[in-house]
Amino acid sequence: MRINTKMEVRLDELLSSLSLALDLAENKSLDHSRRTSYISFRIADKLKVSQKIKENVYYASFLHDIGISNMPNQNSLEEIHSDLNLKKVHSDIGYKIVKNLPFDNDMSKYILYHHENYDGSGPNFIAKDDIPIGAQIIALGDYFEIAHKRKDISNKEKARMKNLIKSNKNKKFNPEIADALLELMDTDKFWLDLSINLNHEILNLITPEKVKVITMKELGQIAKAFAVIIDGKSKFTHLHSDGLADNVYMMSKYIGYDKQKSVKMKIAGYLHDIGKLAVPNKILDKPGKLTSEEFNIIKTHPYWTKLILSQVKSFRHDIAQWAGNHHEKLNGQGYPEKLRGNEITEEDQIVGICDIYQALIEDRPYRKGLEKLKALNIIKGIVDSGGFDKKIYELFKEAI
Ligand SMILES: [Fe+2]
Ligand SMILES: [Fe+2]
Ligand SMILES: [Fe+2]
Repeated sequence: MRINTKMEVRLDELLSSLSLALDLAENKSLDHSRRTSYISFRIADKLKVSQKIKENVYYASFLHDIGISNMPNQNSLEEIHSDLNLKKVHSDIGYKIVKNLPFDNDMSKYILYHHENYDGSGPNFIAKDDIPIGAQIIALGDYFEIAHKRKDISNKEKARMKNLIKSNKNKKFNPEIADALLELMDTDKFWLDLSINLNHEILNLITPEKVKVITMKELGQIAKAFAVIIDGKSKFTHLHSDGLADNVYMMSKYIGYDKQKSVKMKIAGYLHDIGKLAVPNKILDKPGKLTSEEFNIIKTHPYWTKLILSQVKSFRHDIAQWAGNHHEKLNGQGYPEKLRGNEITEEDQIVGICDIYQALIEDRPYRKGLEKLKALNIIKGIVDSGGFDKKIYELFKEAI
């Protein structure tokens, strides 16, 4: 199959889509990051801060709670945001992840300080001008998003929220920033935008004028960081996506895909299990046998993977498919779409074979990792029952 390998990845689309993955996690609320991004951007716009600050606020909001995914305990969003120590822990983790990514430096600082209070009573005890303005804006956007009862645009709710913001002026919040939000709250549009379930579309309307496009190298760095988050979710899979991505890349080169396409395959490898962020840890980490209902929940993960990655337009016809189809089988026995035959591409199967191989050679709580040959033999069994193409399997075996 010939695929256009030239690719333009928009940073706003990518971060918005990855934020969906972060918010699907069990301890989060859906679209929390996107809604925070909307509110914070509107405040920044109202305040007439520089274009650079506006953009950093918009982008950083998508990732502001990225540190929650790798916290040892599964606290709820409300718990995390009402405990000083938990506030500090996830802000610190988030800072460490984002600081190494190819973004403007200020973004990671905004994440580090997104729970500081204006009066200095926050997790790092810094106050007023010592807190970056973008962090102060996100702090307020985040606070509003969590406190506001979604969809309720009654006068009672509006008054309650206004009182909450007013009474925290000069304490939690910079008075000028709070006033900007209060002004927004006087408009119907603000409440209506937040009350309808079209967060994606509404965000598209306010996306920064100059769309940022990232390079393949930058995309690789961001995808790898997410692979670490995905793998870190369960102690049994701590190197799964990383190892798999290496094999997918190796195999892509071996069968002669060009450099660009091989890199895209690697990215599909890094992100193939991103939908696992939506699967509760108590199921992922369950030591014994899963009930059939629990297994049904595990089986939702490639569905989420495809949905999340398809939000990036330039991923929709390749990376999202290759990653999202990794549990499909030629004989129609796979999931979640029961694709069969030529509905499943060579690329899908490469990710699928590498996934099984990787899982087999890794240690599991109930067994040691298998040797190469044993793992290959098990995959051969799947080929024999019509799951994968024999030629692709043979090439994989040679490549390994
Ligand atoms: Fe937070
Ligand atoms: Fe938050
Ligand atoms: Fe998977």
